[in-house]
Amino acid sequence: MDSILVIGNGLLYGQIPIAGAKNACLALMPATLLSDEPLTLTNAPRLSDIRTMTTLLQSLGAEVTALADGKVLALSSHAIDNHRADYDIVRKMRASILVLGPMLAREGHAVVSLPGGCAIGARPVDLHLRALEAMGAELDLRDGYVHAKAPAGGLKGGTIDFPIVSVGATENALMAATLARGTTVIKNAAREPEIVDLAQCLRRMGAQIDGDGTSEITVEGVDRLGGATHPVVTDRIELGTYMLAPAIAGGEVELLGGRIDLVGAFCEKLDAAGISVEETEAGLKVSRKNDRVQAVDVTTEPFPGFPTDLQAQMMALLCTAKGTSVLEEKIFENRFMHAPELMRMGARIDVQGGTASVSGVERLKGAPVMATDLRASVSLILAGLAAEGETLVNRVYHLDRGYERVEEKLSACGARIERIRVS
Ligand code: UD1
Repeated sequence: MDSILVIGNGLLYGQIPIAGAKNACLALMPATLLSDEPLTLTNAPRLSDIRTMTTLLQSLGAEVTALADGKVLALSSHAIDNHRADYDIVRKMRASILVLGPMLAREGHAVVSLPGGCAIGARPVDLHLRALEAMGAELDLRDGYVHAKAPAGGLKGGTIDFPIVSVGATENALMAATLARGTTVIKNAAREPEIVDLAQCLRRMGAQIDGDGTSEITVEGVDRLGGATHPVVTDRIELGTYMLAPAIAGGEVELLGGRIDLVGAFCEKLDAAGISVEETEAGLKVSRKNDRVQAVDVTTEPFPGFPTDLQAQMMALLCTAKGTSVLEEKIFENRFMHAPELMRMGARIDVQGGTASVSGVERLKGAPVMATDLRASVSLILAGLAAEGETLVNRVYHLDRGYERVEEKLSACGARIERIRVS
């Protein structure tokens, strides 16, 4: 398993291009299952999660071809010949459950393994299933699989009222509703930019959707969807992650393709900490105003609140802040696995349930650390950028699920970082 070696050496200067959003792309790809015409996604990120979704769709009979060095994905589902999403693929990635809604809507039946994914809490799929039931689906859970059947004549529109906000369940419901008979209303829908991106793509395919980006989405079902070409929205989590690189190490970095509207709540916290964010023609420019940042309190929330997927990276910044910061994790239980690793680097963190108190120290010290999940991995790399000496981040396969060419992007700005390949 590869490791990443970071030697903390201070200031970073340069530009980092931000890729298309992994989480948007993982929802857009299964949309191919809704139509027999081609779907082309541009600005796709080149990540192992995208390759896993490719394998899953191919196993169902879809054609998926990566063009332009993987930045364009040409998808076609003119012949779905398998309706079973196997455990061997699904267990690698939770987003695999997103094939359920589209398959059920177009084909009337599907069998999908219950997913695995990051080890950050229980993460059930009950809300996905409830949404499909509200459209008339009959579901049977046996042998670790969901066996789903649409009523005769196909799914029918219904009202879905989610008890909590779920990005994935909103996406599954949205895709299924595009081909359901009649009107579907999704209440307490997720408002994430990835939902808006999916709705835009589905509209390009001929779907009738209103209200995406708000907490109530209305879908008028249509008989069929056609083909489309759609650019994947910028990855706001990759954006926020790299915004933290100059914030932690010092210097000034321009994030190409960055947009404030994607990271509003995050920017407010950066500002409070003493980090300057400026809009430029090409994106966002980030620099640190003071020697040490100020402590800030952070609570993770569904969009437009502070994203849980930036909590670990923000903690890395706050480890060296002046004062004590309180981080509250409200989306996932068990999402502070990076804290003990940061403590190996000299951070002072006290975790009590879903709350972490971080008392800033002047400087972290490099250490061998273990990456436990995707965002935790990158938080350790960020911490290593400003730590004294060498930080060796082990088990970085998680990182490759969500960040393309992290070593290249950071070293282009002057970071001393290299991948140590272990065959
Ligand atoms: C998506 C993102 C992930 C991000 C998360 C929250 C993708 C591929 N992943 O994950 O990076 O961290 O949104 O912003 O887009 N829940 C249930 N039952 C369900 C579904 C969810 O109880 O059926 C709970 C979860 O355990 C969690 C909360 O709802 O506590 C929110 O999860 P959700 O928004 O569904 O996350 P994902 O879509 O899996």
